[in-house]
Amino acid sequence: MENHSSQPKLEESAPDWTSWLNTTLRREIDSLDTTAADIKTLAASALRLSNHYVSNPLERSPWHEPWAIQALLAYYHPLNLSRASTVGRRGQARQFFSGFTDLVDIGCGSGAASLGLRPFAPFERVHLFDRDHRVVERAARLHASVSDSDSNTVLAPPADINSRALNLQSDPLPSFSPRHLIVLSYVLTELQDERESATLIRRLTSSAMGGLVIIEPSTSDDARKLQRLRHTLQEAGFYIWAPCTHAEECPLLLHSEKDWCHDRTVPLKPDWWEALESRLPIKNETVTFSYLLARREPPPKVPDLARVTGDTLFEKGKNRQLLCRSSSREFLSWFPQRLTKQLADIRFERGDLFQLGDNEVGEKRGSANAVELRIKIEALERLKTLLQR
Ligand SMILES: C[S@@+](CC[C@H](N)C(=O)[O-])C[C@H]1O[C@@H](n2cnc3c(N)ncnc32)[C@H](O)[C@@H]1O
Repeated sequence: MENHSSQPKLEESAPDWTSWLNTTLRREIDSLDTTAADIKTLAASALRLSNHYVSNPLERSPWHEPWAIQALLAYYHPLNLSRASTVGRRGQARQFFSGFTDLVDIGCGSGAASLGLRPFAPFERVHLFDRDHRVVERAARLHASVSDSDSNTVLAPPADINSRALNLQSDPLPSFSPRHLIVLSYVLTELQDERESATLIRRLTSSAMGGLVIIEPSTSDDARKLQRLRHTLQEAGFYIWAPCTHAEECPLLLHSEKDWCHDRTVPLKPDWWEALESRLPIKNETVTFSYLLARREPPPKVPDLARVTGDTLFEKGKNRQLLCRSSSREFLSWFPQRLTKQLADIRFERGDLFQLGDNEVGEKRGSANAVELRIKIEALERLKTLLQR
C-alpha cells in the first residue's frame, strides 16, 4: 500500500466517566425511594432484573418497581454507558457524527446510551423518549447533571434537554430533520418480533432524520436480526457506516449458520462495582454488544478497509482471527513462532479498524466460506505500529 494518508485515524479515548458515576449517579441511587442502597440490596435488585430479562425477554422493563430502577442505575447504566461510549469511539473513527445537532434517545431508560454518545459531537439538543414517564424524567436529570460544573467529565457544551413519554409503536413520531441522530439502545430486543423491528425502522427512515445508532445485545439471535435490518436500512436509502466496512452482503449471514457480528469493550467500573459483582454470578471483565451506525449520506471512501470481528483463535502454532472486508468470510492468520519476539505478541482486538489490501496477504487459502489470509510480516509490522500494540 502506498498511500496511508487516508488511513482511518486511531480512535481517541472516550471521556472518563468514573468521577461522574461515583458522585452524581451514586447520589441518584442513594436518593431512590427504596428501603436500602447497600451493596447486598443493589446486588439482589440487579439479579432480580437480570432474571426478569432472561425469563421474559419480550416483556416490558418493570420501571414501576423501585428495585428495578435501583438495578437500572447501579448495574445496567454503567454497562450500557460503556457500550455506547465504545460505539461512539467506533463512529468517531469513521467521522460518523459530523453535522448532527440533535441527539434523540428513544426507549431511553436512564439515558445511558445518549450520555455515552454525547461527547462525540457538540449536540445542541438532547431529546429523551420512553414509554415510561418515570425513567424519562430520571434520564433528563442525569443528562442535566453532566453539565454541572462539579462533574469531572469531558463533555461538549451543555445541551438543551427535552423529554417526554412516548410509545414508539402507537404514538406519532416527533418531527425530525436531517440533523437529528436517533439512538435505539437495547430497544428492538423488547419488541415482539423481527417484523415489528423492521416496521419501526421503516417508520423512522421515512421521517427526515439523518442518522441512526442501534445497539443490541450480543446474542446470536439479536445480532443476526440486526444484520438483517441492514437491508431494510439500505432499501430506505441509508448507508451503513459501522461496524460494516462495505455495502455488500454480511459475510456471516451469507456463509455461516451461527456466526454473529458483535463487539467487545472493557466496562467502566464505579467504586461499588467490585463489591456488587462479587455477589453476582456474572463477572463483566469485558462486555459485548452488537450495533449498527447508519446515515443518509455514504461514508468516506477508504480503500481496503477491514474490521476485526472475532477474538483470536489459537491453533497449534497458528493464530487466526475473523476479519470483515467484503461479503467473503475471511480469517487473518499468522504464525507467532516464525516471528521476532517483538512481533510475535501482536494482538488484534474486536473492533480494530485498518486498511489491508490483497498485496499485504499471501495467496488466499481455505474454503469459500472460510478464506484464510496469511498476513505478510511487513503488514504485521505496519499494523503493530498503527494500532500501538
Ligand atoms: C432494556 S431498556 C434499555 C434502556 C436504555 N436505552 C439503555 O440502553 O440503557 C429498554 C427501554 O425501551 C423502552 N421501550 C420498550 N418499548 C418501548 C416502546 N414501544 N416505546 C417507547 N419505549 C419503549 C422501555 O421502557 C425501556 O426503558
